[in-house]
Amino acid sequence: MNRRERKGGGGHGSERIGQLVDGRYRLCRLIGKGGMSSVYEATTEGDDRRVAIKLLHPTLASDSDAVARLHREATILSAIKHPNICRIFGVGNTDQGSPYIVMERLCGETLARRIANDGPFEFSDLATSLKQVLGALEAAHVKGVMHRDLKPENIFLVETRPGTKTLAKLLDFGISSYLDGGPKDCRLTRSGMVMGTPYYMAPEQARGDSSLDQRADLWALGVVMYEALTGQRPFVANNYNTLLIEILRARPKPLADFIPFVPEPLAALFNRALAKDSKERFQSARAFATAVEQVEKLWGEQGITPPMWSSDAQRRASFDRGPLSEDTEVMVSRFREDGTEVMDDSRRGQLGTDLSETRDEE
Ligand SMILES: Nc1ncnc2c1ncn2[C@@H]1O[C@H](COP(=O)(O)OP(=O)(O)O)[C@@H](O)[C@H]1O
Ligand SMILES: [Mg+2]
Repeated sequence: MNRRERKGGGGHGSERIGQLVDGRYRLCRLIGKGGMSSVYEATTEGDDRRVAIKLLHPTLASDSDAVARLHREATILSAIKHPNICRIFGVGNTDQGSPYIVMERLCGETLARRIANDGPFEFSDLATSLKQVLGALEAAHVKGVMHRDLKPENIFLVETRPGTKTLAKLLDFGISSYLDGGPKDCRLTRSGMVMGTPYYMAPEQARGDSSLDQRADLWALGVVMYEALTGQRPFVANNYNTLLIEILRARPKPLADFIPFVPEPLAALFNRALAKDSKERFQSARAFATAVEQVEKLWGEQGITPPMWSSDAQRRASFDRGPLSEDTEVMVSRFREDGTEVMDDSRRGQLGTDLSETRDEE
């Protein structure tokens, strides 16, 4: 467990190990935990196949919003098949009647874990994963789906053999929603559900705009990218409201404050990705991916992107994220129908966990 992890959602999740779910899946070990659910490695009875099972935290098992979200996630995952989106095999109900999702079991670690353990990325190491996640987002956006919860915990870096290509998979469509015109479950979007992790929230979300689009996802990926390259989040604050103001008004510290060598095209990419006005941002995941490719091309010679740090030791030494402030308890928010925010103490221990820095750990 690292210093950023918090427990929540009722229990550690390990009490379910050994249980047989729906007469079919034997839970072997807990492999990850988010704000809504725990994810277990399981084997199928009979043919002993290894899968991942996502189960709602016991405290949310009969929460109708949470149940509906898990069903929605399953529907969306089945609709968007993409090599960089975690594959779903099926969905069912436990004997207690709460839903579960069966997915491919991914081996590796989340981007959050990688940053916490290894420090900031070299751009050349990050670019491939970024383009893959952008490919996944493009596939979602084309289907009219916004992810809405882009953050390092929801990007999984699959362990690949040495010499093989990086493989990133986008996880967790738990709070995704349809862009305009798609089938909507109004209850989910109207009744004040958690709208994503505040650190990654786009200015238009922070302002409470009711109509959001794919550009909010692209902003969040810009924040993820900043965090992956510097080890720091671009917008931080001691409480929720100040964080919203930061997101709306502050210019993030330039990359050059953290990184010795930042080429101009990379700085320009960030200006675009984190433009406050969504019209000035990348308008599509494809455009963002093309810009990443351009940076690789402009910067590198003959396909080799130079390092931003003079040595690996310097890169690692630059990484001092410091303890996270205790701000996270207040990072829980829900929204009224008119888009205004509601602080909701009663659910802090449940939905709050995800917003409050749970590092999904193996
Ligand atoms: N298919 C999978 N294989 C391996 N680990 C997974 C898989 N899906 C999720 N995880 C792990 O479980 C964590 C929580 O899953 P996630 O879908 O993000 O749930 P939540 O909606 O509760 O945040 C992830 O951050 C990741 O560490
Ligand atoms: Mg998650």
